[in-house]
Amino acid sequence: MKLVIATKEEIAKDIASRVISLVKGNPQAILGLATGSSPLETYAEIIKRKNEVSFKKVTSFNLDEYLDNGDITQSYRYFMDTNLFDHIDIKKENTHFPSKENLATYDDEILAAGGIDFQILGIGSDGHIAFNEPNTPFDSKTHVAELDERTIKDNSRFFKSIDDVPTKAITMGLSTIMQAKEIVLIATGKNKAEAVKKMFEKVDISCPASILNKHPNVTIYVDKDAAPVF
Ligand code: F6R
Repeated sequence: MKLVIATKEEIAKDIASRVISLVKGNPQAILGLATGSSPLETYAEIIKRKNEVSFKKVTSFNLDEYLDNGDITQSYRYFMDTNLFDHIDIKKENTHFPSKENLATYDDEILAAGGIDFQILGIGSDGHIAFNEPNTPFDSKTHVAELDERTIKDNSRFFKSIDDVPTKAITMGLSTIMQAKEIVLIATGKNKAEAVKKMFEKVDISCPASILNKHPNVTIYVDKDAAPVF
């Protein structure tokens, strides 16, 4: 895995440039997208540079979506619409999320589209990627996941109260993510440092992100606060 230590702004600019040049070279590129705080600046940077490229033929697959979520404005679909899709010329019908309905077919849909060319990931403070919590099997496909207590607590910052945070989500599995041709992971802030260190130390299901060590094309972007100290 390649490690890049940079500021949040530099990380966003670098990843946005990679996405834009990918789409310029392949207007039908397939993007794998994450929600949460980590990719926000990257999406803002893509929006800033939207005149450089067209996303009309791009297809996207999001990593995950809450299950049994009463508040639509807390859905990951809403997050992506408001933070990216509504501001670029991507066609909404080409943007996909895992759901109860497509649970069994999501991985096949990704394959049928040609596979993910470029996957953006964040990392949980417990080492999760998408909602693959510690001890999720490395060969997992898209599935329903119970969120760990730590994840529910971390995500409660987006909700009025911790009781409003959904406890289940549908998530791409670890083997789904590993099929992406190119992967970038963004980790910023002190609360990610422990997970980032663990990810580099040992490939083990107690840290789901550590599976990325087995992928041939991964860049881990960290800021100074999240940088691992060995
Ligand atoms: C979101 C996702 C999660 C987040 C992770 C970090 O689609 O897949 O794995 O990337 O929980 O969240 P933030 O970026 O909010 O710290």
